[in-house]
Amino acid sequence: MKRLPIYLMTAVLATTFSAANAGDVDALMKGCNDCHGPGGVSTSSDVPSLAGFPEFVHSDALYMYRDNERPCAESKYRHGDTSRPAISMCGVAAKLSDDDIDALAAAYAELPYVKMKQDFDATLAAAGKAIHDEHCDKCHSEAGTNPDDEAGMMGGQPMGYLRSSFKEFAADARSQPKKMKEKFDMLSEADLEALAHYYGSIQ
Ligand code: HEC
Ligand code: HEC
Repeated sequence: MKRLPIYLMTAVLATTFSAANAGDVDALMKGCNDCHGPGGVSTSSDVPSLAGFPEFVHSDALYMYRDNERPCAESKYRHGDTSRPAISMCGVAAKLSDDDIDALAAAYAELPYVKMKQDFDATLAAAGKAIHDEHCDKCHSEAGTNPDDEAGMMGGQPMGYLRSSFKEFAADARSQPKKMKEKFDMLSEADLEALAHYYGSIQ
């Protein structure tokens, strides 16, 4: 067979790889969405939505889970098969390659962010808004729904998940900017509960 010029071979390889990757990512996302909800939009208070999540924050989170640098919530989830061991985000991330992680983060960032419909207390939400405006808005604009901030998503995320992530930051169990830690050191448990209601009220 006649050898292909090198530039053509690269083009052929690139096409084959991106085609294979697209299929792989769809299959991986199906597994993620078993917990994170159809289309990456959560239906459970303890599980965050992934659709519309900023790409860099998403890949960073997966690398940190994989490197045991971020705590994983205990899980009862067994893909519907009670004979299998429960899977946590640490178990999920351990199976992902660097390419998987980057492709997943890119794919979810393309999907629209959908805010959860959930019950909240209006008085607490108003108190939480004042705390947010004073301490958090600078880095988490638009009630923490602006993906361009590259700082995660808060407004409209499930309140159960928000509460557990606040606990992890307050205990300094998750990496965070120094200025964010200073804020968490100043806030009481009641302040954090008010913040959860504020972000929950963004629908
Ligand atoms: C067994 C259920 C389950 C599966 C499967 C699962 N997740 Fe998760 N995921 C969770 C739970 C629960 C949390 C929140 C608690 C925690 O941090 O452990 C979470 C948290 C996350 C976060 C952190 C979001 C944030 O706001 O910082 C990311 C990112 C994530 N998952 C991505 C994925 C991806 C990508 C996949 C598929 C490769 C996946 N998850 C599969 C249950 C799951
Ligand atoms: C100096 C900027 C800064 C301030 C101030 C700040 N944050 Fe953050 N926050 C960040 C950055 C950057 C990240 C992403 C960190 C990462 O992924 O390692 C983040 C992540 C988060 C997350 C995780 C989001 C997710 O999707 O998992 C939560 C929750 C959070 N911040 C809450 C708060 C709250 C509440 C306040 C106010 C009390 C606050 N932050 C103040 C910069 C800030």
